[in-house]
Amino acid sequence: MPIAETGTTASRVPTQSTYQNRVAEYWNAEENPVNLELGRLDGLYHHHYGVGDVDWSVLEDPDAARRRERITEELHRLEHTQAELLAARLGSLTPDDRVFDAGCGRGGGSVVAHLRYGCHADGVTISGKQADFANEQARARGIDDKVRYHCRNMLDTGFASGAYAASWNNESTMYVELELLFAEHARLLRRGGRYVVITGCYNDTYGQASREVSLINAHYICDIHPRSAYFRALARNRLVPVHVQDLTDATIPYWELRKQADHLVTGIEDTFLTAYKNGSFQYLLIAADRV
Ligand SMILES: C[S@@+](CC[C@H](N)C(=O)[O-])C[C@H]1O[C@@H](n2cnc3c(N)ncnc32)[C@H](O)[C@@H]1O
Repeated sequence: MPIAETGTTASRVPTQSTYQNRVAEYWNAEENPVNLELGRLDGLYHHHYGVGDVDWSVLEDPDAARRRERITEELHRLEHTQAELLAARLGSLTPDDRVFDAGCGRGGGSVVAHLRYGCHADGVTISGKQADFANEQARARGIDDKVRYHCRNMLDTGFASGAYAASWNNESTMYVELELLFAEHARLLRRGGRYVVITGCYNDTYGQASREVSLINAHYICDIHPRSAYFRALARNRLVPVHVQDLTDATIPYWELRKQADHLVTGIEDTFLTAYKNGSFQYLLIAADRV
């Protein structure tokens, strides 16, 4: 029986996968106090972890309400330190430059970069609710002419090629395939542009993903990559590492404090601490040049 030649019809590829819809739903619904209460302090909403030494005296305040307040402030200070650490690696940017914040959450990272360099920023999140929230914050700050948030897929932003002097992912690479992500960064960055990532990754020297890494994946609906995958995917996408920093020891104090913040815990604190301490999980900063 002859096979009919019907030609090739385009398959219907949804603009967002089912997985990405689930991630969007998660972030649309997310209202964890650790994200909202910290951000309310100064309008800088960070949805990543923190680095640096803790002022442990915050736990000793005899007044319960004041103790809570001081713990909240201290955790925010550590998260903000992480945002500044990342921003400091973006290169020498000018107010005319444009930066791309991939997986921007409620927008804190773009504001930090703008306040430091005066640059334009485009933040992208798959959550419409986060993009609206972040744009409202930018309006309230009077920087909405330069800092804008978009509900888009960071793998297919639709932004202009070569338009960006710097770009980054702060705690958002575990939601996407690295090859696709770095291809988009390489497309958006101009030659000589800088890419920075801060991320948890599983440690190849331990072996496969540990039980704790699997628990973190299930908790956040994500897929933590091994350390090796970052360097492979960067190299294949014209992104050449110029600085690599293991932040594991620097982030452990943040988790030790957060674990004791009864009003802010989410239940994943012990898992992170065990994963970092048993060597199966690492917190890494990588800065790379777009060649
Ligand atoms: C842990 S939060 C980090 C937020 C932000 N980078 C920060 O540091 O505050 C992860 C973010 O990744 C975003 N995200 C996940 N998958 C995405 C995708 N395919 N495209 C755009 N954003 C995505 C989520 O919407 C969320 O805003």
